[in-house]
Order: sequence, then structure tokens, then C-alpha cells
Amino acid sequence: RSSLFGKDLLTCQDLSRDEIWLIFETTKEMKHAYYRGERPRLLEGKNLGMIFEEPSTRTRVSFEVAMSQLGGHALYLRPGELHLGVRETIADTARVLSRYLDGIMARLLKHETLEELAKHATIPVINGLTDWFHPVQALTDVYTMLEKFGDLKKIKVAFFGDATNVANSLLVLTSRLGMNFTFCGPKKYWPKERVMKMVEENVAETGANIEITEDIDKAIKDANVVYTDLWWWVGQEHEAEERKAAFQPYQVNSNLMKRAAKNAVFMHCLPAARGMEVTDDVIDGPWSIVWDQAENRLHVEKAILVLLMG
Ligand code: CP
Repeated sequence: RSSLFGKDLLTCQDLSRDEIWLIFETTKEMKHAYYRGERPRLLEGKNLGMIFEEPSTRTRVSFEVAMSQLGGHALYLRPGELHLGVRETIADTARVLSRYLDGIMARLLKHETLEELAKHATIPVINGLTDWFHPVQALTDVYTMLEKFGDLKKIKVAFFGDATNVANSLLVLTSRLGMNFTFCGPKKYWPKERVMKMVEENVAETGANIEITEDIDKAIKDANVVYTDLWWWVGQEHEAEERKAAFQPYQVNSNLMKRAAKNAVFMHCLPAARGMEVTDDVIDGPWSIVWDQAENRLHVEKAILVLLMG
């Protein structure tokens, strides 16, 4: 059993550096085994509850396929299906689900709901995205960078746009690993104190080079990875016009990509709003590794599930 057995994964700050590397090494084993045609039934007889308060394509499908390929079973619990905080406390739901399941993966509107669920569950709880963090996505992204570049310390990652849950998790994970990460966007949408406190703790330990700036020239210079995310999410539609105007200068288009390092790649967690944060010629062009990135969600999730529940 790994040191991660029975643990929750709510943020990347929950993981030690050794545990992060264990996830990456296990992911590599999972992916190679998959391509050799092997389907080790490491989670035979295990059940994962997947709670969704919001829609999803990648998280929904990849976690279910991961469980299936590992010989286990996943239950899709769609928005509104459980008495989660309605007619029953979150704590009571956590206690009951812990008697049926071996693990929970939850995509919830509020990070505090996830924390409450994890506090009262006696089985591992995995964050499948909240308003604050998306750790499985960030682990997938950094694993994908490792695959493409081989040495995480030798690359510069530049994120353009909004301090989304994905940007927050990338900031936490890259600082925890001592990487070079620049967040570039309008000041109004910079990462909040809750995230920067984690980043500062990590930088003090690892000496990571983390920059937060509005300066596009500075951010794109020598960037090996150019990353962006949606400019607005469910519930922020009423801010769409204001956000479009604020983020337009930070759009990832071919002019921006040409100013990055020669070997630069383009990444996006998806779904993408084409023509907004990224143009078609970038996401469909030679820089783009978004489909490899999306595939890696499956392999990373298999590693996480085996390490937490296997
Ligand atoms: N990147 C991501 O989490 O995608 P979904 O919203 O489709 O799950």
C-alpha cells in the first residue's frame, strides 16, 4: 500500500513532493501498461461514487473509464440526484456513502462543501473541481509537461487569463515542485490571497520562480508552455461582456505563440471557448498538445485511484 492509501485529494497542497512524484511514476506505469494492452484489475470489487453538481465531459467520462479499466465500478450521481445538503446534512451523506463505497470523486460548486464531505467521510475523497481548485487537472498538466520536456526545472510555464480553479491549482503545484511559472492577466482577476499563501509557503521551501504580472511581453518571453483557460464559467455569464473586454489583450493567438520559446507548446484544460481565450489556429495548430493532455487525465486518474483505494 502506498503512503497515499486512504487519503483525500482536495488540493495539490495536500500532497508531499514524494507523493506527487509517486503519482507521476504510477501514471507512467499505467500508461505504458495500457499501451502494451495490459488491463491490470487493481480495483476489482471496488466502487467509486462520482458526485456532480456541474456538467463535465472529461472528468465524468475519464473517471468512469478509469474505474472500469481497473476492474472496479463507478456510479454517476448527476446534479440534484443526492440529498447533498438538501433534506440531509453533508456530514450524514458522507457517513452513509462511506458504508457503501470505497472512494468518492466530487465536482462541487463550493470548495467548503467538499471539505465538509471529506471531513465526515471515512473513505478517500477526490476533488473533481470546485470553485477554488482542480488538482487532478493540474497533476495531469504537469505530468504532460514532464512527458514533453523531460525536466520540469528547465521549462517556463506562462498562464494567460483568469485565476480560475485550474490556474490556482497550477500555481500551487508548480510552486510545490520548484518550477518556473508566470501568471499573466488583468490585475482585477489575479489569484486571491488563499492561493498566494500556499504559493508563498511553497516558494520558501522550494525556491520556485513564481511571477504574477499584467506584462504580456515579460510573460511570453522564453515560455516553453503557454496555457490558458475559459474567461468565464457557469454562474459568471452576467459578467461576460466585462470579462471579454478585460481578457481580450491576453488571448492566446498565433502572434502570441510566435513570441514564445522556439519549442513552445500550447495547453488548455478544456472545454475551450474558441475565438475567445484561444484562436482556432493555435488550438488546432502544431503548438497544441491539448488532446494528449486530455488523454492523460485517464492515466493520471488511474494512478490516483490505485494509490488512494488500491
Ligand atoms: N478539464 C475538465 O475538467 O473538463 P470537464 O469540465 O469536461 O470535466
